[in-house]
Amino acid sequence: MRTQVVIIGAGPSGLLLSQLLHLAGVESVVLERKSPDYVLSRIRAGVLEQGMVQMLEKAGVAERMHKEGLPHDGFTLSVGDTRLRMDLKGLTGTPVMVYGQTEVTRDLMEAHTARGAQVIYDAEDVTPLDFDTDHPRVAWKKDGVTHEIACDFICGCDGYHGVARASVPEKAITTYEKIYPFGWLGILSHVPPCDHELIYSNHPRGFALASMRSHTLSRYYVQVPLDTPLEEWPDERIWDELKLRLGEEAAANMKTGPSIEKSIAPLRSFVAEPLRFGRLFLAGDAGHIVPPTGAKGLNLAASDIHYLSSGLIEYYGEKSSAGINAYSAKALARIWKAERFSWWMTTLLHQFPELGRFNARIQQADMDYLASSKAAQTSLAENYVGLPY
Ligand code: FAD
Ligand code: DHB
Repeated sequence: MRTQVVIIGAGPSGLLLSQLLHLAGVESVVLERKSPDYVLSRIRAGVLEQGMVQMLEKAGVAERMHKEGLPHDGFTLSVGDTRLRMDLKGLTGTPVMVYGQTEVTRDLMEAHTARGAQVIYDAEDVTPLDFDTDHPRVAWKKDGVTHEIACDFICGCDGYHGVARASVPEKAITTYEKIYPFGWLGILSHVPPCDHELIYSNHPRGFALASMRSHTLSRYYVQVPLDTPLEEWPDERIWDELKLRLGEEAAANMKTGPSIEKSIAPLRSFVAEPLRFGRLFLAGDAGHIVPPTGAKGLNLAASDIHYLSSGLIEYYGEKSSAGINAYSAKALARIWKAERFSWWMTTLLHQFPELGRFNARIQQADMDYLASSKAAQTSLAENYVGLPY
């Protein structure tokens, strides 16, 4: 078997890359270790930057998003006693789109099915080989049978725990990491949201976020200690905590109901450099992780795919390696800015008891500055809606 590009991972990065390559006449095969149902059962990001919206349009998978997604012109920030509406549209001219990662993935999967694309699910032991030569290959097992495919390039779109980054010799890669001493407990519930926009709140009891997937489906998060067992968080306890942390008005408007999904995600900042090793590229969570506070993880995956797909399309169309040679540096320049913003939002909005009273005062001062300065608000807003590609 042979193809032009092998893509490891059928998450949003892998599927978007394969779709964009296909539209430009570049052939690819996607290898995914889980089943389609498993991939769709993961509830993750919910806010899309305008740049990502435009990429989905370019990929021809934006129709349902434009019908069902919710354009949001702003959100509320609350730290201590200070509450502030961030007028994203007024400050930057740009809104964001509230549309779940699960739906983005579903739309991409449907586009793949419609064109009879090669996505191989339930692929075990996927192994990138010889990517330091001009003849890379990828091997995998399915139903007990070993398969192998030759290609020109391998794209590791296989997330933080994937095999692509792990296959790179340790001395060829530099990693930067920060682990936060708490996690986010998230719930999804079939109830109307407590506000028409998102609310991010830093309360003495910890961070809380009120988000949504539609007018009838709410997504909420609370900061929890890292080692908290999920059993200690029955739904009633989460609703009680949300009401305390999100403030009186949100509490008064909050409709509660049974959770249909509940999970804890650790918070981590991580970057691997570079993002290219011979004929292997890393994109999305395979190359970097941000804490979710700035809603940047999925959006960064999309900007990586913008640079990588254009580089590969240029390689095949114009016989030029300039785009693929520039990929790692271009993507990393944007990634580090999103790392900084996500770290800053996380630092502003969470309780860090180990950092003491000084830190709490700095958070309050940061928030008061934000409330008094249009320049500070514009800086936050332009990062939140997404820096240019
Ligand atoms: P992934 O979505 O991780 O996809 C990688 C794919 O590769 C998966 O389907 C996986 O099964 C597959 N794979 C892995 N290993 C192999 C292998 N060896 N062989 C073959 N296939 C493999 N971002 C936000 O902006 N807001 C959020 O609220 C938010 N919440 C999150 C919660 C959790 C628990 C996690 C893990 C992430 C969250 N993120 C959030 C981040 C966001 O979801 C990711 O940035 C986004 O999923 C990145 O897409 P990706 O395609 O690069 O990686
Ligand atoms: C959601 C997640 C985020 O991390 C965020 O900053 C905003 C919204 C969400 O899942 O809806």
